Amino acid sequence: MTPATLVPRLRTDLAAAHFSVPGLTGLWGIEADAALRRNQRVPAQRALATLAAKLGRNEPAATLARLFLLGDAVPRADFDAALPTLGAAGAERLGLVAAVDALVRPLVDLRPYSFIDAHGAGSWWIVSDLGELALGHPLGETHVLGIGGASRTLSGLMMPHAVERALDIGTGCGIQAMHASRHAEHVVATDISVRALELAALNAELNEIDNIEFRFGSLFDPVAGERFDHIISNPPFVITPRAEGVPSYEYRDGGMVGDALVEAVVRGAAEHLTPGGVVQLLGNWEYHGETDAFERLERWLTPVAGAAAESNASDSVDPTVGAPAAPVASAPPALDAWIIEREVQSPGEYAETWIRDGGTRPGPDFDRLYDAWLNDFEARGVSRVGFGYLLLRRPSAAPTLRRLERMPDALGHNPAGLGSHLAECLAAHDWQAATDDARLFRTNLTVASDVTEERHYWPGQQDPTLMTLHQGSGFGRSVPLDTALAGLVGACDGELAVGAIIGALAQLLDADEAALSAELLPKVRALLADGFLTVP
Ligand SMILES: C[S@@+](CC[C@H](N)C(=O)[O-])C[C@H]1O[C@@H](n2cnc3c(N)ncnc32)[C@H](O)[C@@H]1O
Repeated sequence: MTPATLVPRLRTDLAAAHFSVPGLTGLWGIEADAALRRNQRVPAQRALATLAAKLGRNEPAATLARLFLLGDAVPRADFDAALPTLGAAGAERLGLVAAVDALVRPLVDLRPYSFIDAHGAGSWWIVSDLGELALGHPLGETHVLGIGGASRTLSGLMMPHAVERALDIGTGCGIQAMHASRHAEHVVATDISVRALELAALNAELNEIDNIEFRFGSLFDPVAGERFDHIISNPPFVITPRAEGVPSYEYRDGGMVGDALVEAVVRGAAEHLTPGGVVQLLGNWEYHGETDAFERLERWLTPVAGAAAESNASDSVDPTVGAPAAPVASAPPALDAWIIEREVQSPGEYAETWIRDGGTRPGPDFDRLYDAWLNDFEARGVSRVGFGYLLLRRPSAAPTLRRLERMPDALGHNPAGLGSHLAECLAAHDWQAATDDARLFRTNLTVASDVTEERHYWPGQQDPTLMTLHQGSGFGRSVPLDTALAGLVGACDGELAVGAIIGALAQLLDADEAALSAELLPKVRALLADGFLTVP
């Protein structure tokens, strides 16, 4: 068995074993699936034991699931039956398992992953480091993360527009780069973890993806002087106290003070984007005292000649750790920006979230870490921490988009993710920004197919007391309507131009047409940019 044939053999065996997301649910049922999402394996273990007793044998997919998802050692004979062409010897050479006597135990997590995006449904197998559930103890500081909630959030947000070159900063197991490989001709994936890069390369090969190039290095260092059409990053944004005895997990903590790593990605992006190029990332941002965090984000977005990342980055305890991008001689171009804050946590909530995430349970260690987090926040005047999505674009001319908004509620229904919606909203923004009122007046608009109108009436009354427009997909926005806007939206079926509709409404409502236009056109522009109305 040559090393070159090992991964193809693994692929063949996994496919033959039907080691897939629906296959596993079929083995252990939806309740065990849900328990696993809560990091509990007992229901799945019990279901597999019942199945084996019923069948009088271990199904190959069940053996693989016990080993690679639940972390149980399995008999060597079962393993060889589950991966017959690779066998235990081949799996050991790939670093997947350790075989001792008659037992095989897992060295990695290996699981099926399925998704739907703008290009259709897909499924892959993903190798990462064993999680807390399989290990039975807290994660190591060099742990390579599998696919978590944040990974899915970012891959769902990824705009699917066809591009030449994409960059994934902090690739981990490679999941974002693999998603980007579906719409980019070439992807560069970087990480400061050699093991992450090795696992990511294994995942790409296992899933027959051959347009990703893996590079070692911090942030933009491995791509100095290069430009990309699409940059994606789920960066290690977790704010971590720089104090003795606080673990620094490579997968979530970039080694800087506070939110300086996210700031460094934001500030560094402009130089590495082609005109029209977009960077999408997840991030945390700090609120300092009474100051709104959006003011700090606005400062990050302000191009500065020769600028290194401001404030926090220069406060770094160890200046050699996670140094921000090298100063540039002239100011980088100003970017379009669309930032969405999804959640805000108090210092205490934040500390609890991330101490638990590292696998520390309530007890003296937990309390010590809690103290360290609160000390750090107190010392730097951090009153709250925001979490959200950032989309920045290098415009071909001057920036026209500066949108910082809060969306704490549930989003719309988007089985294929939000990426297409983001792309459509950007295109609609560009169209309306380039369209003067006279042209908008002459344009026939259509209500998007996911939009509904809700009306409330006092009992017995004919006129509604409250009217609201709802978006079913996208961000699931709701917009209050008055009579004129409701009339305008209701008439947008593509048959009449906006100006004609406003003219008719002015007559119907006995209103001044110019005044009504001045009132309605900005609202029409907002409805276009949010995807309620579409340009034919
Ligand atoms: C939160 S994980 C994201 C992994 C993967 N991209 C995903 O979406 O699931 C962050 C990754 O960034 C890497 N990382 C940490 N510091 C970095 C740095 N300074 N430059 C580049 N990557 C870094 C970590 O090793 C880790 O793999």
